[in-house]
Amino acid sequence: EKGGYPSFMAKEIHDQPQAIADTLLGRVDAGGRLQLDEMKIGEAELRSIDKIVVVACGTAAYAGQVAKYAIEHWCRVPVEVELAHEFRYRDPVVSERTLVVAISQSGETMDTIMAVRHAREQGAKVLAICNTNGSTIPRESDAVLYTHAGPEIAVASTKAFLAQITACYLLGLFLAQLRGNKFADEVAEVLAQLHEIPGQVRQVLDGLEQVREIARYMADTRSVLFLGRHVGYPVAMEGALKLKELAYIHAEGFAAGELKHGPIALVEPGQPVFVVVPSPRGRDSLHSKVVSNIQEVRARGARTLVIAEQGDTAVEPFADVVIRIPRTSTLLSPLLAVVPLQVFACELATAKGLDVDQPRNLAKSVTVE
Ligand code: F6R
Repeated sequence: EKGGYPSFMAKEIHDQPQAIADTLLGRVDAGGRLQLDEMKIGEAELRSIDKIVVVACGTAAYAGQVAKYAIEHWCRVPVEVELAHEFRYRDPVVSERTLVVAISQSGETMDTIMAVRHAREQGAKVLAICNTNGSTIPRESDAVLYTHAGPEIAVASTKAFLAQITACYLLGLFLAQLRGNKFADEVAEVLAQLHEIPGQVRQVLDGLEQVREIARYMADTRSVLFLGRHVGYPVAMEGALKLKELAYIHAEGFAAGELKHGPIALVEPGQPVFVVVPSPRGRDSLHSKVVSNIQEVRARGARTLVIAEQGDTAVEPFADVVIRIPRTSTLLSPLLAVVPLQVFACELATAKGLDVDQPRNLAKSVTVE
């Protein structure tokens, strides 16, 4: 069942190229246009949406955060991302023109179910992004976009996360195409890049021996920090969550720009800090800002483990370890950048002798509020 891997989690990490490919499969027609047949919300309604609110918990909420960067850029529609349990118990502003997107692997997370019900009561349309056919969340939603990651058995989410992000990109591209905004012409180009991703994830997986070795040496580590900006920020949060869940190590992910507003006080000599670096080919000065952040923590003695694009030499003087990922556009890069962090957590937990498939105190689906 584990296909020769030591754990379901290890297998599921290696299933990720397939999970992405299967989530893309059959959704682009011969003319390169997106077709989402399960999108049962009318086109006129989708054109009139003036806000998207993503509701989800845990890892699924980090997929939503990635979606925010992509969908706002492509569609020029405001996207809010809120933890489902927080959304439910305040008085959120939603209307008939709000599209609520509920992301859930299991489709049975009670916090997310309650948020879906609340949104529909307020008149919003709800689209589920879900990995489990016929589960409660898609059944209670107006439409569903299934992720085709296959059953996820390990408690910690890996392949479902990448499939959720992929589905969010499809949603964003679909809306851009439908609404015919200025980005619509670039949809085909992004889709082409997206189809390259499964092969690129495989390349990342094939090159992680160094990460595994480092993880094994870090079994005694008490605390690990994760920094990222832009789409690298949710990647950092997810890297920290994986490490807490699996290895029971205190870990914190934060936006690199926040460093000087507080967290840099945590850095003392020897503190391991992962940094997710955006592409140097991207817009603005995002890349150089993150390189400065690496320098800042390095100057205080941090041990820097840097995830950077192939060919990005600017990080080298300040990195104790450079973990390479293939080139893609900044918005798609989370699908590559998170993989070393998943493997790091899995390997470190295994080195500590822990059960990575069944971490203590956790359940695969959280069916109580
Ligand atoms: C993290 C993890 C949890 C789930 C969260 C939502 O590895 O597994 O944070 O992502 O409980 O679960 P679903 O997606 O089933 O709603």
